[in-house]
Amino acid sequence: MVTLELAKDQELTQQDIGKLQEEIRRLAREKNAVILAHYYQRPEVQDIADFVGDSLELSRRASQTEADIIVFCGVRFMCETAKIVNPTKKVLHPNPESGCPMADMITAKDVLRLREEHPDCEVVAYVNTNADVKAVSDVCVTSANAIRIVQKLQSKKVIFVPDQALGNWVKRHVPDKEFVIWQGFCPPHFEFTAREVQKLKELYPDAKVAVHPECHPKVIELADFVGSTSQIINYATACDAKRVIVITEVGLKHTLMKKNPSKEYIFPESMNYCGTVYCCTMKGITLPKVYQTLKEELNEVTLPEDIIERAKRPILRMLELS
Ligand code: 13P
Ligand code: SF4
Repeated sequence: MVTLELAKDQELTQQDIGKLQEEIRRLAREKNAVILAHYYQRPEVQDIADFVGDSLELSRRASQTEADIIVFCGVRFMCETAKIVNPTKKVLHPNPESGCPMADMITAKDVLRLREEHPDCEVVAYVNTNADVKAVSDVCVTSANAIRIVQKLQSKKVIFVPDQALGNWVKRHVPDKEFVIWQGFCPPHFEFTAREVQKLKELYPDAKVAVHPECHPKVIELADFVGSTSQIINYATACDAKRVIVITEVGLKHTLMKKNPSKEYIFPESMNYCGTVYCCTMKGITLPKVYQTLKEELNEVTLPEDIIERAKRPILRMLELS
C-alpha cells in the first residue's frame, strides 16, 4: 500500500493530487464504497466521485446503491439523507463540520410551533434541513422538484421551510395555494445582487442568464432560466447562446466546462473577498479528508432510530412524487 504524507491542502501539488485520487479510487474498490459528490465540491473531489449531481439526484443515488459504504462529499444534511434512506449502511462524511448554514436557520421546535399556529397546513421542508426538522415535516422537496410537488399536495395551505427564496419562487408558480414561508436564506446565494447581474447583462448582451432559485427574488427576476444545479447545467450546455451568465456557486463551472467547453460561462465576481461566491462548508471537504475518512472509516453519520423512521417518510414521499 502507498503511504501518503498528507500535505496541507493549499500545498498539494498536481502530483499529490493525482496520487491521492488514485489511492482513494483503489480504497473505494477494495471496500465496495461509493463516492457521491455535489456540484459545489472542489474540482479534484468531483473528479474522484462515482456520481456528481444535484440534491435530488444524490438522494436517489443514495437510495439505490448496492455499496457497503457511502462516502458523501457534500454538506451534513445530504449525508443525513443518505443515512435515512440507507439505515443499515455505513455513511461517511469527510468533514463533519461541514453543515449548511441555511439548514441551521430552523429547528424542529420552530416547525412544531408553526404547525400549532396553522393546523390546516402541510409542512414542506426543503431537503436543506436537519434530520429532526424533516422528522416533523410532511414532504421534502429540492429545487428541482419543489413546484411540481407543491402543486400535487391536497391541502390549500402550506408551510414552506426554511428557504424564503425558494418558497417565494414556488408560491409564484402555485397561485391557488396560501403560503407561510420561513425567512431562512442561503448566505452564498444571497450575496449575488440584481445590480451586478444587470451589469453583466449589459456587458454581455448576447448571453443568457441562468439562476439558482436560492437567489434573491430580484436576481431571479433577471433570469432567462431558473433551476437546480443539474437543471442549470442542462440548460446552459444545451441552449443556443454561446455565453451563459451563471448565478450560483462557482463549483458548477467544473462540470459545465467538462460537458460543453465550447461555451463561455460567466460567474459574477461578487463582493466576496476571494472574487467569487463560494459555499465555505461545501469547500470544507478536501481530498486529504476524503482519503483519511475512507481509509480509516472515520466520521460515520449516526442518527437516532426514531428520527430515521420519521424523517424517512417525507423523503420517500418526495422521491415518489418526483
Ligand atoms: P441543488 O443541487 O439541489 O440545486 O441544491 C443546491 C444547494 O444549495 C445544495 O445545498
Ligand atoms: Fe447551504 Fe447555500 Fe451552501 Fe447550499 S450553497 S449548502 S444552501 S449554504
